Amino acid sequence: MNSLTTTYTLANGVEIPIIGFGTWQNIEQAESATLAAIKAGYRHIDTAAIYENEEPVGNAIHASGVDRKDLFITTKLWNAERGYETTLAAFDESLRKLRLDYLDLYLVHWPAHALVSENWAAINAQTWLAFEEIYNSGRVRAIGISNFSVPYLTELMKTARITPMVNQVEFHPGYMQPETVQMSKDLGMVVEAWSPLGSGAMLHDPTLVEIADAYGVSVAQLCVRWCLQHQTLPMPKSVSPERIVQNADVFGFEISAEDMAKIDALPESGFSGLHPDRNPF
Ligand code: A2P
Repeated sequence: MNSLTTTYTLANGVEIPIIGFGTWQNIEQAESATLAAIKAGYRHIDTAAIYENEEPVGNAIHASGVDRKDLFITTKLWNAERGYETTLAAFDESLRKLRLDYLDLYLVHWPAHALVSENWAAINAQTWLAFEEIYNSGRVRAIGISNFSVPYLTELMKTARITPMVNQVEFHPGYMQPETVQMSKDLGMVVEAWSPLGSGAMLHDPTLVEIADAYGVSVAQLCVRWCLQHQTLPMPKSVSPERIVQNADVFGFEISAEDMAKIDALPESGFSGLHPDRNPF
């Protein structure tokens, strides 16, 4: 683990760079920020249909001059498109907006749940069937899920013929979702960490400030490094070229076991409030 091109290996052998560049809540500056990230050495870019930035992210990919095969591009199926046929169409639409002929990773953004339909389990199974078909067609190198907590993982595994290769969940100091992370890892998935800085909410936490100071790094760098030392894949977001560079400069220090334990012991904080059982979408 020493650079932005270091990879984890997914269950199917595909290599995934260990830090991704997150683009949630970034529309206006999505193109410039993604370009800055690629210039800074990020090779893994994470977008989603619902972010409404697949076009500018695609523009940055094409403007970067980096070979397509050297980039790892993820997008996600939005909830309104769950189901078999709708998923197939949504995948094509995302490729069109990104101006790509294949994706590296396609994720189911959120599981259907009981508040949206009593048939939530069947809907998730149908969505996943379409993901398996897309995967088998060769237009995506890996498929996975996002925000699937234990009950949704358990249900999906009853019908999945291909085990998801990734589960992308909220994961940062103050919000670790240990059962979901453990089950995902036990199933052979790479766990990606969205909002590794708690969407910025953890940056002024006094414990984190004190530990970061001791290592001579920023709290953001500490959070990114902490995710890596938990064998998760952090996807920090920023619109600032300096902070984009800083967030990937995490290979020159190692958090001690004692400090990892102190960070792990933080009370719940920085939770986004988004939960697969309770979302109104
Ligand atoms: P900005 O885009 O102005 O840099 P997360 O990745 O957990 O979702 O957090 C993203 C938030 O954290 C954004 O508000 C971002 O603001 C801020 N942020 C990202 N990197 C840093 C950093 N190195 N220092 C301070 N704030 C940061």
